[in-house]
Amino acid sequence: MVSKLHRNSSKIIHYTVNACLFPLCAAHGLAITTVEGVGKPNTGLHDIQKRLIESHALQCGFCTPGFVMSAFALLRNNPYPSRDDVERALEGNLCRCTGYRPILQAMEPFTKECCPMGEQCCKNQQQSDSQAPEDVNVGCQPTQVPIFPPELQTSSEYRKSVCFEGPSWSWASPTDLSELLTLKSKYPHAPVIMGNTTAALSIKLGKFNSSKILLYGGNIPALKEVCVVEGGVSFGAAVTLSELSQHLTQLKGEIKEGNKKHFPALEEMVGRYGADQIRNVATLSGSILSGRSNSDIITLFTALDASVCLASVNGERNVGIEGLSLQEMEVIKSVFIPNSDQDKFTQSMFFKQAQRRTFSLAIINCGMHVILSDTRTVEKLRICFGGIADKAVLARKTMDLAVGT
Ligand SMILES: Cc1cc2nc3c(=O)[nH]c(=O)nc-3n(C[C@H](O)[C@H](O)[C@H](O)COP(=O)(O)OP(=O)(O)OC[C@H]3O[C@@H](n4cnc5c(N)ncnc54)[C@H](O)[C@@H]3O)c2cc1C
Ligand code: FES
Repeated sequence: MVSKLHRNSSKIIHYTVNACLFPLCAAHGLAITTVEGVGKPNTGLHDIQKRLIESHALQCGFCTPGFVMSAFALLRNNPYPSRDDVERALEGNLCRCTGYRPILQAMEPFTKECCPMGEQCCKNQQQSDSQAPEDVNVGCQPTQVPIFPPELQTSSEYRKSVCFEGPSWSWASPTDLSELLTLKSKYPHAPVIMGNTTAALSIKLGKFNSSKILLYGGNIPALKEVCVVEGGVSFGAAVTLSELSQHLTQLKGEIKEGNKKHFPALEEMVGRYGADQIRNVATLSGSILSGRSNSDIITLFTALDASVCLASVNGERNVGIEGLSLQEMEVIKSVFIPNSDQDKFTQSMFFKQAQRRTFSLAIINCGMHVILSDTRTVEKLRICFGGIADKAVLARKTMDLAVGT
């Protein structure tokens, strides 16, 4: 579990990541909690660990530390989760021996549905963490919750740009967009690393060997910005899928009813994308440049006619996602998603066929966006399919034929 201080709100945020994909250099300034920090036999087990033992939810034990960490992060963020919250938090952890029934049963006492008082349960009352009775906060007993290191909160050292130099690779982590663009012009072949979920493999396969420097984009506030602008919303390139989901919830209050008819399709897509460990790090720009024809983001964003803002030391330009090609010194700065037309009947949809409902790449996916004119005929239709060719494709003939019907 990674914990970090949110730059704007000064809140401490906790989230799970896959250790095998998370670059060590990206951990600079973050607090990392592993299963040993949650509880050990000699210092005392955490309630989550005790429950897993009591519920016979352990066998070979490879998967258990992961389940403990996912459950622990859930309870740090949400002390009163629902059963659905628990299932969602655990969907990125695979267990081949025990099966999920005893694991979910182990988590049952932490859920708000488990109390015989039902809706009257004290856990369902609106209480701040500090007001919660001690016995309610079963998951996180204060003595066992590792504190966020004070030096990470007070020292400005961790908010500065850094460069780590190793024998084979250097890692530059700028905190300013102009700094990133200068580095990109100096090292045009250097990759911009975001969630690292594709880049990790590319590095291993030697794809970036001509560069020897990695440029980290995850610490640049300008790439995390989300702005409601004329005709739509601009999302920073480094916005993660989890952040996109939170922003959509917040934006519902800011955007007029008729302009957000595409939000359910975006929410459906986020819900089907990877699992928490991936959604917590994978970004919009990294997904668009993943090189995957079955990317859920590319398929839906193409259907929604989204565009990207590319930036370099020479300036900025806006281009559509379809056929996107970056010049050497360019980076994606933001992604613009147009509003739905409030005066017309508009419907957006996202479909995904995969081997599992979640935590599985699409075999085939599809984004659709239709606008009907006043006379109930199709004014505009965009259908994009992923997974059927070497890149996502628009069904142009169907789109053209449908207009006017
Ligand atoms: C376990 C797992 C599950 C997954 N599940 C799904 C899924 O359900 N649906 C789905 O669609 N995808 C899924 N993916 C794929 C995921 O979308 C890609 O790995 C994607 O690359 C994630 O973004 P990232 O931020 O981690 O990219 P990174 O790995 O950081 O970057 C990917 C590429 O984009 C470049 N890049 C990134 N940002 C910029 C920028 N701003 N400017 C210039 N270049 C940039 C990098 O240099 C690199 O070449 C999954 C991946 C994993 C590992
Ligand atoms: S107990 Fe063996 S994989 Fe879960």
